[in-house]
Amino acid sequence: MTQPRIYSFPTAEITAQRFGDYLIEKARGREIFNCALSGGSTPKLLFDYLAQKYPEPYHWEHIHLYWGDERCVPPSHAESNYLMTKEALLDKVQIPAGNIHRVRGEDDPAKEAKRYADVLTQRLPEHNFAPVFDLVILGMGTDGHTASIFPHQMELLQSEEICAVATHPESGQQRVTLTGKVINHAKEVIFLVTGANKKEKIHEILHQTGNWESYPASHIAPEDGELVWFVDDAALGR
Ligand code: 6PG
Repeated sequence: MTQPRIYSFPTAEITAQRFGDYLIEKARGREIFNCALSGGSTPKLLFDYLAQKYPEPYHWEHIHLYWGDERCVPPSHAESNYLMTKEALLDKVQIPAGNIHRVRGEDDPAKEAKRYADVLTQRLPEHNFAPVFDLVILGMGTDGHTASIFPHQMELLQSEEICAVATHPESGQQRVTLTGKVINHAKEVIFLVTGANKKEKIHEILHQTGNWESYPASHIAPEDGELVWFVDDAALGR
């Protein structure tokens, strides 16, 4: 992997907007563009912008949306990553229903992890026995977790599985997550991280100082792909 590219902007809103423009441009002209979305609150800024700036069908007819992780809750639950995406984006742009591939958070986690892995195997190109995304969008928690790979489950970075069942360290909530193997097989991985509460971890990760090796986000390094950070100045401590 080459050195990560870092794009920083004055505010979280501008960061999300520039990322939205970058995403649409990357997908433009592609026959199929397979993209895994992150959850949490940061992507909502991105989704709000995409819905406002790019509602037309020609932006979306070739983009297939997946999730890098999902909470094991029904799609109507307030903590569902799918629900947040549906309300902020999917209900507001003209994307074909067949392009949306949600994780079924309402189902048995272990069975859903296997089912979703089969969906990815069937629908995505394969390289070295792993499905290859065109783009994986990731957030990062204040503990350095990414997707739903938390510091207490670092083994999910090296798992031979495509998807795994993870557990939130505080709430115990189960999640279905892509493993590090799939994330690091992507053609491009982009961290979208904003806010001063992330600056310590970002500094340690980018400078490989402190406890950087204990943070899952530090181990995201696409083998044959690009790693990019879209961050706001607050997340860089500016
Ligand atoms: C999730 C996410 C998770 C998220 C980080 C950052 O399902 O919660 O996939 O990895 O990206 O926790 O969340 P915020 O954007 O809310 O800080």
